[in-house]
Amino acid sequence: MCGIVGYVGKKVAQDVLVGGLRRLEYRGYDSAGIATLDDNNDAHLARAVGKISSLSAVLEKEPQTGHLGIGHTRWATHGGVTETNAHPHHVGNVYLVHNGIIENYKELKAELQKTYTFASDTDTEVLAALIDSNYTKDSSLKDAVAKALKRVRGTYGIAVFSPKEPGTIVVARLGSPLIIGLGKDETLIASDASALLGYTREAIYLNDGELAVCTKDGAEVYSLELKHLNSKKETIEGDLAQIQKGGYDHFLLKEIMEQATTLHNTLYGRIDPKAGKMHLGGPNLTEKEMRDIHHVVIVGCGTAYYAGLLASYYMEQLVPDLTTEVVIASEYRYRSFHLPKDSVALIVSQSGETADTLACLREIKKRGVKTLGIVNVVGSTIAREVDGGTYVHAGPEISVASTKAFTAQVVAMLLFAGMLAEYHGGDPKLVAEFTRELAILPEEIEKTLNANRETMEKLAKKYAEYDHALYLGRDTAFPIALEGALKLKEISYIHSEGYASGELKHGPIALIDNRFFEVFTILDNWLFDKACGGLHEVRARGGKTIVLTNSKADIEADDIVRIESKIELLAPILLNTLQQLFAYYVAVDRGNDVDQPRNLAKSVTVE
Ligand code: AGP
Ligand code: GLU
Repeated sequence: MCGIVGYVGKKVAQDVLVGGLRRLEYRGYDSAGIATLDDNNDAHLARAVGKISSLSAVLEKEPQTGHLGIGHTRWATHGGVTETNAHPHHVGNVYLVHNGIIENYKELKAELQKTYTFASDTDTEVLAALIDSNYTKDSSLKDAVAKALKRVRGTYGIAVFSPKEPGTIVVARLGSPLIIGLGKDETLIASDASALLGYTREAIYLNDGELAVCTKDGAEVYSLELKHLNSKKETIEGDLAQIQKGGYDHFLLKEIMEQATTLHNTLYGRIDPKAGKMHLGGPNLTEKEMRDIHHVVIVGCGTAYYAGLLASYYMEQLVPDLTTEVVIASEYRYRSFHLPKDSVALIVSQSGETADTLACLREIKKRGVKTLGIVNVVGSTIAREVDGGTYVHAGPEISVASTKAFTAQVVAMLLFAGMLAEYHGGDPKLVAEFTRELAILPEEIEKTLNANRETMEKLAKKYAEYDHALYLGRDTAFPIALEGALKLKEISYIHSEGYASGELKHGPIALIDNRFFEVFTILDNWLFDKACGGLHEVRARGGKTIVLTNSKADIEADDIVRIESKIELLAPILLNTLQQLFAYYVAVDRGNDVDQPRNLAKSVTVE
């Protein structure tokens, strides 16, 4: 979940490492550290609890001058958040940073304790010792790392150096991303391509089970059996502006407000409003394969799961003979699930690195079912392992809370559904209607956000001191209720739950008291009266209610935010952007760290 950076070249490594860590800080941020090797081959280590600014303060007092180094921003899995547990770990001749979990660290530690005294509680320090124990007079660091990794169970992205082999960093991966950036007279290492932007566009994406020896002149890739492998050079996409705040106070606000632009990118070349048709190239399925699909399983975690849930409602509307199933990856991976042969799995992930989602992908592949990725990060592990799929092109999402990716994921899956509809006797008029709405959705989002930004800010101030919130919705507003509650809880820390409003009477209505407020998303459609039913029940019990709606009808509530839009079918997506603004302003009002909320990390690469 953490960030890894590495550098070998002519620049002062400390500057590159700290700069890179700042860009990766959103991935994990409880502590950080760097280790460098100076020109006399002396290693220097600095670590600090807290954000990268704490590390910078340490380095300001004792700058490191070397031209080779590794850095890490941690999201603790083993051992508390302390300086001693922070990475890099130094054991014997080895300096190591690690992303992931060494599952058999206890048995390895018991064995290594005969020779080594451990300073930290981490699994990572055990791996450092294991590498050092294999780093004998006759072996190279590469040999030692390969030998050690063969004994490891778990997941890792690692970068290692030793004063015994100046000019060399050894990296390896299994289940945690590692990218090697190839520059002129310099080589960079990062767990996320954004740390490489501005240095180089040429990169090698390491695959699971691979190891690489990096010097300033490039990288040689090997298997763990030390067979030399041909590596593919790829181009890193994106630019620096995308990973900067662009005048906004927080990445989250920027990412909410730029959704019109990012959605244009999601839709680019994929809809034909005149013909009323949608097209998605990525799935790469033949006509017969499209016709043969009768079952779609959608897999994701958190926001990606909710995007899948909303998309499944749309899919059912569009494709008459389709069964859809939406599953939470952390559960599904361990279930004894059976999938009919005429299934396709949509693997939804912003980062493309989420461990549970990745594990599901592999389980589904084992069952011979075709997998399609709905992924944002280009070149990510899920994107590489699926049989086909599509990038949602939302651009880098830095804030831990996912916003623009949700919108893009729903839309990408809708495009897939629109295409499926054609082969399954779906109503062409309905496909055309969805297409028409998709074509204007970016502008409608822009309009909605601009028209309601101040309103949502004021509303947020009014409700920021409450302890609990219930988000309620029916039909396509139900997934939106779940997503709204998730957004609020993760950045404001207000306890909030999403419910299908029809479920109110089955339990949650008992909760309502003056510490609660309720957010209803009410759509102007055939279920309008039923959706209002839940609202009346809550008001009758003295609940404080906020209504988000596209209806012009009379509604009684404490606060009503109405949007005026030509969008109907996709109104849940529009109304969700208001929930995003609401959560943002509540978090700001409560003085929280909006972009990096406590205890979370952007990319959950561990189980
Ligand atoms: C959403 O705001 C989250 N922080 C989280 O639920 C996220 O959506 C989830 O971890 C899935 O991530 P992914 O899309 O990168 O797989
Ligand atoms: N398991 C390691 C630790 O707890 C690495 C965690 C991470 O990926 O940041 O230190």
